Amino acid sequence: MEPQNVTSNLVLIMDFGSQYTHLITRRIRKLSFFSLCISGTSPLKSITDLNPRVIILSGGPHSVHAEGAPCFPPGFIEYVEANNVFVLGICYGLQLIVQKLGGEVRIGEKQEYGRMEITVEKTCGMFGSKAVGDRQSVWMSHGDEVAKLPDGFLVVARSQQGSVAAIENPSKRFYGLQYHPEVTHSPEGMETLCHFLFNVCRLTADWKMEDLMEEEIKVIKGMVGPEDHVICALSGGVDSTVAATLLHKAIGDRLHCIFVDNGLLRYKERERVMETFERDLHLPVTCVDATEQFLSKLKGVVDPEAKRKIIGREFICIFDVFAEDLEHKLGKKPVFLVQGTLYPDVIESCPPPGSGRTHSHTIKSHHNVGGLPKDMKLKLIEPLKLLFKDEVRELGSILNVPEAFLKRHPFPGPGLAVRVLGDVAEGNALEILRQVDEIFIQSIKEAGLYDSIWQAFAVFLPIRSVGVQGDQRTHSHVVALRAVTSQDGMTADWYYFEHKFLDDVARKICNSVRGVNRVVQDITAKPPSTIEWE
Ligand code: XMP
Repeated sequence: MEPQNVTSNLVLIMDFGSQYTHLITRRIRKLSFFSLCISGTSPLKSITDLNPRVIILSGGPHSVHAEGAPCFPPGFIEYVEANNVFVLGICYGLQLIVQKLGGEVRIGEKQEYGRMEITVEKTCGMFGSKAVGDRQSVWMSHGDEVAKLPDGFLVVARSQQGSVAAIENPSKRFYGLQYHPEVTHSPEGMETLCHFLFNVCRLTADWKMEDLMEEEIKVIKGMVGPEDHVICALSGGVDSTVAATLLHKAIGDRLHCIFVDNGLLRYKERERVMETFERDLHLPVTCVDATEQFLSKLKGVVDPEAKRKIIGREFICIFDVFAEDLEHKLGKKPVFLVQGTLYPDVIESCPPPGSGRTHSHTIKSHHNVGGLPKDMKLKLIEPLKLLFKDEVRELGSILNVPEAFLKRHPFPGPGLAVRVLGDVAEGNALEILRQVDEIFIQSIKEAGLYDSIWQAFAVFLPIRSVGVQGDQRTHSHVVALRAVTSQDGMTADWYYFEHKFLDDVARKICNSVRGVNRVVQDITAKPPSTIEWE
């Protein structure tokens, strides 16, 4: 993470693998403090470069006693003490503080999971806004408990069962909560966090999207020399469009956009998207038809990761050719490539310690992040890589990207390749999928549901089932409908359609798409599924 993105009010979250860590980052940004999340085991230099005012040590699935339990880097305690940094440990983070500062953590006699009541015992620091004896409901999730506090620490709240729920050492600026204040099951948790950041750490809540935009423009101008040219690949999605618009604002017509039709686009996508770029955004875009190039490379490939890698590689080959063409035209080779990579893409491709995933155990290599070849000649600019999806929409709105465009559901870089299960080049799978998807999305729009759904699409399944149409036996394809609600794509729930809606859509699909005789709906959340099927 580049230090130039830092504000002096930075709240740095160190992630030890809790499923709630990114929620802390988002919640704190909503309070208008800039916050970033890095791995809990990042080297000290990553922390000192960022120069945070507050560090929050997240929860995690480990016991501090387990072999290889993740820990902050050597020199961390000395650094925070010498630089007056406030530290708040949450759950596992609290136990790390206790253990590393000379206290004791033991396996809890009674483990505490779920909703619990805690009582405030002292009204200093953490609970300064509460009276002694004040009770609140919180969400606990821990097996270990504090047995002995390090010198200078006080217990400021206890659970019903008498175990330590909150501690602090104000003179050292160390604080700890055994529960999760960031989840909605801790109804007063946000008030506590807010009190901590405003009144204890004395941070000013002055972070605004406009500031981030100005900072990013400065960073871009600093990176891209006055004579340098930049290529931006537009996918037709919100992210690359906002990234391109930002770059255009920073460097004007030294930005050259390319839109690649890889044969994996949705129904009439190319025509619709090109119209918006040219008519509404006035972006300089070259459209390249590379359908044959992509589909011939994907022929016979069924492994989802192999598909993603091939697509990533072909995109880069096309960008290289585009760069060479521009070199002939401009007499100068473009140096940079802009990508609309978002924060969740970065996080998902670099899982935190304790998540049970390692860098070699990637769930999906989102091609923005994982699939770029190592010998790529262009340098990357990723101006959105610190933002969540809803924040990108906010930035887009400041940049005057049309509202309808900003509200488009996300579409993955590898396109329909991750929605046709198996070989995309087999039969007319892509054509069938395009038609089914169009009927589904148009029906959603007509029913006024589009904006309540985070993402909706159809999936082509590589199986056939028996049906009967017009008194004739059919042996045709099965398609699945997927619609999810989500905040940022990290977790998702399936969307509950009314039966009548589903009935109408299934009927429309079977009646108008040749080769489909069965429609099913995907009713899984993420986790255990992912949003896309591949
Ligand atoms: P998953 O399927 O990982 O998707 O739950 C989360 C969000 O990311 C999108 N997605 C991708 N976006 N390149 C992208 O640019 C990819 O390879 C990719 N894979 C998934 C997905 O559509 C969803 O919004």
